[in-house]
Amino acid sequence: MDLSEKMQQPVDQFGIIGESHAFRQIIGTIHQVAPTDISVLIVGESGTGKELVANALHQASHRREKPLVVVNCGAIPEGILESELFGHEKGAFTGAVGARKGYFETADSGTVFLDEIGEMPPATQVKLLRVLESKDFMRVGGTRMQTVDVRVIAATNKDLEAAVTAGEFREDLFYRLNAIHIRVPPLRERREDIPLLIKVLAADFCRRNHIEFQGFTETAIRVLANQPWPGNVRELKNFVESIIVLERGDLVDETGLANYLKTPGQGARNLPVPTHRSSEQVEREFIYHALLDLKSEVTKLREDLYQSYDTGLPKSLPYYSEVIPSSYKTDDSDPGSEGFDLENKSLEDVERFMINRTLESYNGSKRKAAKALGISERTLYRKIKEYDLPF
Ligand SMILES: Nc1ncnc2c1ncn2[C@@H]1O[C@H](COP(=O)(O)OP(=O)(O)O)[C@@H](O)[C@H]1O
Ligand SMILES: [Mg+2]
Repeated sequence: MDLSEKMQQPVDQFGIIGESHAFRQIIGTIHQVAPTDISVLIVGESGTGKELVANALHQASHRREKPLVVVNCGAIPEGILESELFGHEKGAFTGAVGARKGYFETADSGTVFLDEIGEMPPATQVKLLRVLESKDFMRVGGTRMQTVDVRVIAATNKDLEAAVTAGEFREDLFYRLNAIHIRVPPLRERREDIPLLIKVLAADFCRRNHIEFQGFTETAIRVLANQPWPGNVRELKNFVESIIVLERGDLVDETGLANYLKTPGQGARNLPVPTHRSSEQVEREFIYHALLDLKSEVTKLREDLYQSYDTGLPKSLPYYSEVIPSSYKTDDSDPGSEGFDLENKSLEDVERFMINRTLESYNGSKRKAAKALGISERTLYRKIKEYDLPF
């Protein structure tokens, strides 16, 4: 496929959905710049797909077999960002009991994606500029310069030029990172992509979770295409997935939709709140929704394991009865089926259970766990502390 053909695909090979002019341009740029080592700065509001673009840049490059290390500069406490990025030697600071590699070393020959670059403190900016210009860096507390071959992609939802003017972001670093600039437009500027996004996101979700979904009526899709979506594709995706679960896969028409859309005058909301349910019930349902996702990932892992060991066990294991809350079950289902018994648990218990289990299933990766849970890493750090979890 040549470039112009690649730009015509409504869903590109890296899972980027979009057929608007803006998105075709973005996909074109990705294919043009991916093979080079040039730095790319991706700018856009939260939830517009910046990380997806960064991932595509890595996958389309010759570095695709090497690591893509994602660092959320805004989530890592300021004091430890530098040692997380560049590593540290034993005894570099209190608590540095051993030497540790940083993300740059881990990503050697691959890509580092620096998300929320606007949050990077000035001292770390200096070190980053140096590694971009001369490929060398020193571990915190180290004495030896080391060389690393890393492609840097950065993203921000801030106006970095304004940060430069305000003296908060180094101008030289800004120009260095901004060699190629990709602006990902907010969803409200490309509403023509919404119907396609809804269809593809719904189909993906139902496939992953083995849900049979009757779909949205054309009118419902039109109503959704006219919503403001301040949280962009992330919000749209959550909305679509939630409504499929909450409506049990039934056809969603504009009347069904009305229960979940905020009425004018209400404040912003991140999650659809059905007006006929208590907020606690809704929260529980969202927790279940997340559980459902998690469970399906575990099932997928199990399937992969079975496949790789070729044990002859069934590939697909039934799991709905364990995770779907009683309100989703048909009346004849067994209310006392095992698993996490919701009825005797407080919301905190469910939350602690979810967080712990998610962290376990991602081997303690806070980034992945936060993503799976749909919360920020910062919130996850706070919850870990609050529940005193061993991570
Ligand atoms: N164009 C798109 N096509 C498919 N999925 C998208 C698109 N844009 C965003 N998403 C999905 O929306 C969510 C948020 O995207 P992400 O790349 O993390 O946004 P950002 O980094 O800008 O906050 C992810 O689940 C992502 O897969
Ligand atoms: Mg992001």
